[in-house]
Amino acid sequence: MLIEIDRIFKSYGTPGTPSDRKVLDGFSLSVSDGETLAITGPSGSGKTTLLNLIAALDRPDSGKILFAGTDISTLTGTNLDRFRSRSIGLVFQLHHLLPQCTLMENVLVPALAGYRKVPEAIVERGEALVKRMGLWDVRHQKPGELSGGECQRAAVARALINNPQVLLADEPTGALDQVNARNLISLFLEISKEQGKTLILVTHSGELAGKMGRVVNLT
Ligand SMILES: Nc1ncnc2c1ncn2[C@@H]1O[C@H](COP(=O)(O)OP(=O)(O)OP(=O)(O)O)[C@@H](O)[C@H]1O
Ligand SMILES: [Mg+2]
Repeated sequence: MLIEIDRIFKSYGTPGTPSDRKVLDGFSLSVSDGETLAITGPSGSGKTTLLNLIAALDRPDSGKILFAGTDISTLTGTNLDRFRSRSIGLVFQLHHLLPQCTLMENVLVPALAGYRKVPEAIVERGEALVKRMGLWDVRHQKPGELSGGECQRAAVARALINNPQVLLADEPTGALDQVNARNLISLFLEISKEQGKTLILVTHSGELAGKMGRVVNLT
């Protein structure tokens, strides 16, 4: 198993007060390497919370998340930074591209940590990804000059720049029309198949969820 989530609990607010909100209540899930998985469930059911926990951006109150056998709550310092930036690629509902940077620059951002000058190999990798996403002709444009679908594809390229084992996508098609949404999902599936990447996709769309190998519903 690549990811093993073992009875995690997560609540927000102060326990025992009206602000107490149990979001994940003993949740378990195992995901194998290369699997494609959809996470569905009503608003507020904890989908984003779960992705944040898998990405080690937040910690469960109790329970464990193992990534390739390592309990991610034990990672600190450089190891934690490396896990977040190298093992996981994140794509959000709204792309969160930097408005002042070109598409190409945005794609390279996650690879810049630790370098004064971007190594040629990373630039080449970025260029290959941008071509792969069908964005070559618009690579010098800024997000304000790109369509919604182009921005989301750029966000996928950015998520892949460090060659992560897992892609986590939180409603990446939420702001797209049906045609662009389907195209983006096809692209995710192609990438996963080509490169053996594990894909965990949060979506409200039953149709898109149905294209994944497995659907997990949070209630
Ligand atoms: N930082 C926080 N502080 C307090 N409550 C929070 C916090 N983050 C999330 N919550 C609450 O936890 C619950 C789950 O939130 P989460 O964002 O995981 O839901 P979701 O399933 O992603 O919903 P949506 O489909 O609307 O994106 C919600 O009730 C939310 O209000
Ligand atoms: Mg959410």
